[in-house]
Amino acid sequence: MAKLLITGGAGFIGSHTCVVLLEAGYDLVVLDDFSNSSSRALDRVIALAGITPSESSAKRLVTVPGSINNSLVLEKVFREAIETGQPIEGVIHFAGLKAVGESVADPLRYWHVNVGGSISLINVMAAFSCHTLVFSSSATLYGYPDQVPIPETAPIQPINPYGHSKAAVERLLNDLAASAPGQWRIACLRYFNPVGAHASGRIGEDPLGIPNNLFPFVSQVAVGRRERLQIFGGDWSTPDGTCVRDYIHVMDLAEGHKAALDCLLTEAPQLLTLNLGSGRGISVLEVVNAFGQACGQPVPHTIVDRRPGDAAITVADPSEALRRLGWSTRRSLDDICRDGWAWQSANPAGYGQRG
Ligand code: WQD
Repeated sequence: MAKLLITGGAGFIGSHTCVVLLEAGYDLVVLDDFSNSSSRALDRVIALAGITPSESSAKRLVTVPGSINNSLVLEKVFREAIETGQPIEGVIHFAGLKAVGESVADPLRYWHVNVGGSISLINVMAAFSCHTLVFSSSATLYGYPDQVPIPETAPIQPINPYGHSKAAVERLLNDLAASAPGQWRIACLRYFNPVGAHASGRIGEDPLGIPNNLFPFVSQVAVGRRERLQIFGGDWSTPDGTCVRDYIHVMDLAEGHKAALDCLLTEAPQLLTLNLGSGRGISVLEVVNAFGQACGQPVPHTIVDRRPGDAAITVADPSEALRRLGWSTRRSLDDICRDGWAWQSANPAGYGQRG
């Protein structure tokens, strides 16, 4: 079975995708600098995929500590794969920085890692004739959407350096594909709001410090790590006055990555740009109430002023992913909250370590 390089594979979406890929029989090399992840996640990924020590997890999942900005480390990964008789046939590129507020404060770091790191990776891929890439993009590049649900043809109008960095890598990948017709197999996957956890509760989202995002914050309030949720705005033009988003179960997202990879590896070279979302709009208050049901007690919250940079409603039009990949989300908000609570309640302090 094919060997893949997974950059950022110890992270939230990366670790869940590694479980799906291992179960499908792929062999993985995970490159991660562990700046925002834990190697414990990979230990649990191996166990969840049913890989026993006798199967030598060292063959099925090899961990390489390192940064995508370090081309020497990347070259070593590709060279050693060839030397072991199993060249890297494709890359799923998760590694990057993803905090909107942080990107506003430190744009140079975001451009260096998200764009410079992607260029470093793509250069090494090309040098080793590896032309299959799934890129972790984001719905953030839509900015304030002109229309909802949002199709892939909507204007690319980022409103923060994080979104600009994702749009820039997409632009680079489009130019690259156009420069060598028939060579590159690329999928740019635009995530909406990834949430939840593997149903086992063994892996999940473990953000560094105070969570920026709604779901991990709600989850940490429920488990007692945070006092109270602040809901940013109750006067939006939405049914209940709170913002509406497209929350996608992380396992649906992981399966979407496998579907995209399988398509690239079996069909003719092409560049796919796809929304990965549910197409279902859910409000902040609906998340809070559903999570309260899942954890068996109300989640304390207060409605405060709006957060700068928020849009009232952001929901995907996911029809293109269904048409091209035969993929759509299968899990509900209740599944998201049940699985997210299974993770948080069993791991109140997350993995308990970085690195
Ligand atoms: C969701 C809703 C907040 C926290 C961001 C990135 C996007 C993607 C997902 C990477 C909003 C409200 C939040 C809180 C709240 N990440 N909220 N109290 O902003 O839709 O998208 O994360 O790709 O790129 O932009 O997600 O979870 O931050 O916010 O009321 O403590 O929850 O106002 O309406 P967002 P979010």
